[in-house]
Order: sequence, then C-alpha cells, then structure tokens
Amino acid sequence: MERRFYIETYGCQMNVADSELMLGQLGRAGYRRVERAEEADVILVNTCAIREHAEQRIYGRLGELTRHKLRRPGVVLGVAGCMAQHLRGKLMERVPQVDLVVGPDGYRRLPELIDEAREEPTLAVRLSRVETYGDLVPARADGVRAWVSIMRGCDKFCTFCIVPYVRGRERSLPADEVLRQVEHAAAEGFREVVFLGQTVNAYRDGDVDFAELLIRADRVPGIARIRFTSPHPSDMTDRAIDAMARCEKVPPHLHLPLQSGSDAVLSRMRRIYSIDEYERLVERIRRAIPGIALSTDIIVGFPGETEEDFETTRRAMDRIGYESAFIFKYSPRPGARSAEWPETVDEEEKTRRITLLIEEQKERSLLKNESDIGSIVEVLVEGPTKRNPSEWFGKSAQFKTTVFPHRGARVGEVVPVRVAAATPHALLGEGVRAATFATVEDVLT
Ligand code: 5AD
Ligand code: SF4
Repeated sequence: MERRFYIETYGCQMNVADSELMLGQLGRAGYRRVERAEEADVILVNTCAIREHAEQRIYGRLGELTRHKLRRPGVVLGVAGCMAQHLRGKLMERVPQVDLVVGPDGYRRLPELIDEAREEPTLAVRLSRVETYGDLVPARADGVRAWVSIMRGCDKFCTFCIVPYVRGRERSLPADEVLRQVEHAAAEGFREVVFLGQTVNAYRDGDVDFAELLIRADRVPGIARIRFTSPHPSDMTDRAIDAMARCEKVPPHLHLPLQSGSDAVLSRMRRIYSIDEYERLVERIRRAIPGIALSTDIIVGFPGETEEDFETTRRAMDRIGYESAFIFKYSPRPGARSAEWPETVDEEEKTRRITLLIEEQKERSLLKNESDIGSIVEVLVEGPTKRNPSEWFGKSAQFKTTVFPHRGARVGEVVPVRVAAATPHALLGEGVRAATFATVEDVLT
C-alpha cells in the first residue's frame, strides 16, 4: 500500500531545508507527499522554539491536527525540529496523541522511526556531534532558490538563545559535499543557492574556510547567485569580506544580526563584539562592497535593558542605516542562560520599544527604496504576484522584492527593471500600480 506523508514547517530557513531533507528520506522509503493532512498516513510538524510565541502557535496547531487521529487512529502524528528537541517527553505528556518526537539530529533514520512509532510512542532526541546529512539528497521545492545547509549547530551560546541546546554543537559539511550539492542544484535548474547555518560564516572543513567555500561555489556554472544566512559578526573575517567582494555571484546584500546597540546589553547577551567593533566591521564591508544592502536582527526588552540602552540601539540603527530589520521582543527560553535572570522590561514597555523601532525602520526602508527610483536593478525572476498575474516579482541583487510588468519574462531569468516607485517593502517597476503592493504579503505567492 502506498504511504502518504504530510509535512508542515515552522521557523527559519534551516527548518525549511530540514523538511526537504526529510522529504528526500521519505521519498526513498516509498512515501508520497500529499498537500492536505486529511489525506496522509503520517503527519509531521517541523517546529521552532526560538521564542515562546512560536511554541504557543505550534501547540495550537497540534491540537487541530490531533482530530485526524480521532477519525483515523492509524495515523502517525510526529513532531520534529527545535521544539521537539527542547521539550522531548514533555511534548507527549502535554499532547498525548503525539506518536513521534524527533530532534534535528534524528532525520537520517526517519522512516524507521515512523515504523517504530506505529507500534509505540517513540522519542529520538539524541544530539550528535558529527551528523551533517551531507551525503543525503534533499527533495527540494520548485522555485529558483535552493537551500543548502553547510553547517549545523552553534557554539556561540548567546545568553538569550536556545539554539545551541536544541541544535547541538557546531559542525560543518565536508566542502566537496557542499560543492556537489551546489552542482546538483544547478543541474536541477535552480538559479540561486543559499548557504545556511546558525553561524554560517564559522564554516570550516580543514583548509576550506567560509571564504574559500564561496570562491569555489562561485565557479559552479548555471548558478546566478550565491547567498548565505546568518553570519555572526565576530566570524566575519577580512578573507570572507574579500571573497564576497571578488565573487561575481555573491550579490551585495548581507544580513548581519546586531541584537542591541548598547555595549552593556551586548556583553550580557554574550555577543563577543562591541558596537564600535560592529560599526568598524560595517565600514570595512561597505568599503569593500560599495552599495551593499544590510539587514539585521534586533531584540528589545532584554533583561536589564534600560531606557538609555534602548535609545543607544535606536541611534545605532539610525547611524548604520539598515535596508531592513527584523525586530523581536525578548522572550525568555527555559534552558538558555538569560531565562534565569529576572525580566526588567514589562510587556507594555516591550511593545512601546518594538513599535518605535519598527516605525522608524519602515521610514528608513522607504527612504532607502526610494533612492533606487530611476535606477535599473537586476531581478532574478520568481513568478507572478498573488494580486495580479500580469505583474511578476523577484529579488534585486540587494535582495529587495521587486515587482514588474510580466512582458514574457521567464522564471529563473535575470532581467533589468527600471524602478519607478517604492514602498517600505518593495521596489516597483514602471507600469506597476503602487497602491496594490502595500505589504510584502501582497507580493509573495
Ligand atoms: N527572544 C527574542 N528573540 C530571539 N532571537 C533569538 N532568541 C531570542 C529570544 N529568546 C532572535 C535573534 C536572532 C533571531 C533569529 O531571533 O534576534 O538573531
Ligand atoms: Fe530555526 Fe532557531 Fe526556530 Fe530552530 S529555533 S527552527 S533554528 S529559528
């Protein structure tokens, strides 16, 4: 009998890549993927644990999914990913209908684990020091972009972060396996490769560091762009900057998480850099790669963040001038160091701080995008927008979502688009009505 498998993914791109890895494993074991949970014999949720909000949402979703088991008791309900690793057996206590809990290092054996879970509740949460899945072939989703995990885990132990505890120690894939995956992605028709890792630029395999990996990947024919996320500022070596500058296929965009602009907070976060060091790094990057677009992550309301610390962050964001920013309210994660410290910023104040930063960033993003008006940007075409089939979208080299009139462009092509208007979230080509694309959600399919 054919076995049908349904998967839902939450969290970051690492998880998207891991789901593709699981789909590859299950495809080889004879499973067929279905798009609706009600058609599946195996339902898997690949989860995130980065903030409490993520876990709450997933609990809600698990509650909904358990009804499939009421109707068809043979269904296997599995939870994978960071929340599975974080909560382990507690997850089964809280949601007894869960048959399988599998952490990020258990995916190689997924088909066997599912078979075990048909017989009895199964827990696979042992972390590994060596597992990289480098030899496995993921079943990648269609599109122009291929995710390639080049390293796993994290050794930085920022005090707010749960990742080192749920994804284990840092380990890199062998360079030849990474390059084989890039070649494979090119052969499958992908145009952009995104290297993934929790601290992606800490990559190292013997003599091959992150810079050398970029240089080697840059030589693979067929690929138009090579991106990566997320680098840690303290691993951003001059060699890496130089490689970014020299590699033709590495576009001028960098996501460089800052977290806070206050040295006192950075130090308690154990980020290893000062604001001064970070800004000097930004200067070196901008000198080497003129016109590079920067984005970042910021946390507001970290324990002990004073009004003055917050204002310092505000000013730092203004000085640095990010093209875009992801801003989060601090969320204590049991297991991470800072969860032991008393929270000093209440919810209302966190809301005030995040709202202010988001508003200011929106204005900044709009100004940055407006400065592109009149220029021509190179867009890697992804497909039609949700709102209007004759208006297509893609990313510019600076990773800005760009909407343009279709006029025969093909998916995967790089086309020049003259920018006629801008919103905080997108560039609009000539002939695109600005009002239609107020938010990113209006654009993305
Ligand atoms: N609370 C809020 N935000 C967090 N992040 C990581 N851990 C937490 C936490 N406990 C944010 C950081 C990180 C991004 C992926 O998520 O900004 O860069
Ligand atoms: Fe990704 Fe971090 Fe969430 Fe895990 S906890 S899914 S690594 S964002």
